[in-house]
Amino acid sequence: MKKLKKSVVLIGFMGCGKSTIGRGLARALEMSVEDTDTMIEERAGKSVSAIFAEDGEPVFRNMETELLEDLKGSETLRILSVGGGMPVKQVNRGLLKECGTVIYLRIRPETVYDRLKGDTTRPLLQCEEPLERINTLMSARKEAYEESADIIFDVDGLSVDEIVEQLLDAVCEAE
Ligand code: S3P
Repeated sequence: MKKLKKSVVLIGFMGCGKSTIGRGLARALEMSVEDTDTMIEERAGKSVSAIFAEDGEPVFRNMETELLEDLKGSETLRILSVGGGMPVKQVNRGLLKECGTVIYLRIRPETVYDRLKGDTTRPLLQCEEPLERINTLMSARKEAYEESADIIFDVDGLSVDEIVEQLLDAVCEAE
């Protein structure tokens, strides 16, 4: 059985596969995957969409930072999938690194668009021109993602199994 060297933190744009890849890693390692959006929803008692609509994005962003503050430095080995906007706040970039090895799942905007058209759960993409919004947000976040990452991994054209297999080699102890 493979074993993680340290906790893994998956970052990247909405739709890049953080949850799916996280589940694949978890299955291979007989671990579970944790997700910051889900943890925030549990703390708030409502969905991310409802937090954005009722409290506003800044409240959600503060909840993200508070969560990382609580998770950082934990002894528990975890696989953590992180909301797509987490690295935007400078303070979060350092906190992410304190949570584990940060893997940036990099994806092309067109792939995100194809995957997420019709999705209603991402408040930031509920607009007339989602591809334009994806392009703008992704360019604006490029530096934040790259600066946060210990490993940058391009996911386009690869299957989930291929990605999981390659990441396992990168983050597990030698057998
Ligand atoms: C967001 C990404 C979402 C969620 C929220 C904001 C973003 O998570 O945190 O809708 O700013 O990119 P996923 O990346 O899991 O979709």
